[in-house]
Amino acid sequence: MEIEKLLENNRNWMSEKLALDPDYFKKLSEGQHPELLYIGCSDSRVNAEELMGLNPGDVFVHRNVANLVICTDNNLNAVVQYALEVLKVKHIIICGHYECGGIKAAMKPSDMGQLNSWLQTLRDVYRLHRRELNSIKDLSLRFDRLVELNVIEQCINIVKIDHVQRSWYRTGYPKIHGWVFDIRTGKIVDLNLDMHEEFRGIRKIYDLKPLGHE
Ligand code: CO
Repeated sequence: MEIEKLLENNRNWMSEKLALDPDYFKKLSEGQHPELLYIGCSDSRVNAEELMGLNPGDVFVHRNVANLVICTDNNLNAVVQYALEVLKVKHIIICGHYECGGIKAAMKPSDMGQLNSWLQTLRDVYRLHRRELNSIKDLSLRFDRLVELNVIEQCINIVKIDHVQRSWYRTGYPKIHGWVFDIRTGKIVDLNLDMHEEFRGIRKIYDLKPLGHE
């Protein structure tokens, strides 16, 4: 790939935007008011804005390998706090995707260097759901199911975060949405999660309300 071509693409994109609206960049520079936080995979084929038909300014984005929500991830925590307290987003979308390389790697034990500790979270998801997963004999269906279960577990992880709970108790938001992008068809599958339902039985373990919010 020629890097110079990228800069040329940028100049063309700039001209296209300005042709449609001479004030496009002036407006863009005045600030952002996205209502969505999207947490997705770093995979180059899963382009958050494009697959949702959104434009610059519409969505606050965080991406990492296999769309994980890890409570000690300072980067993620800062993104979540900023999104809720400053941008006041109403929705958090966690979007996984079929054929995810991170999930595939976690299904087979091997030494992957720096990815070992990162993928351990995924191996834990496998362990939690091993009975269901091991009962799926077709390996590609098992792989798909782990993608879905990982999204569900990461949605649960996001509700464990103190910033999310404070916002929930104060405003009733954010709403959490678990999605899987089907890279084979282009369709986003909504897992239709009800987080109150997902938390039934485990709320007592993770609820931070007694720590001073109402
Ligand atoms: Co992926």
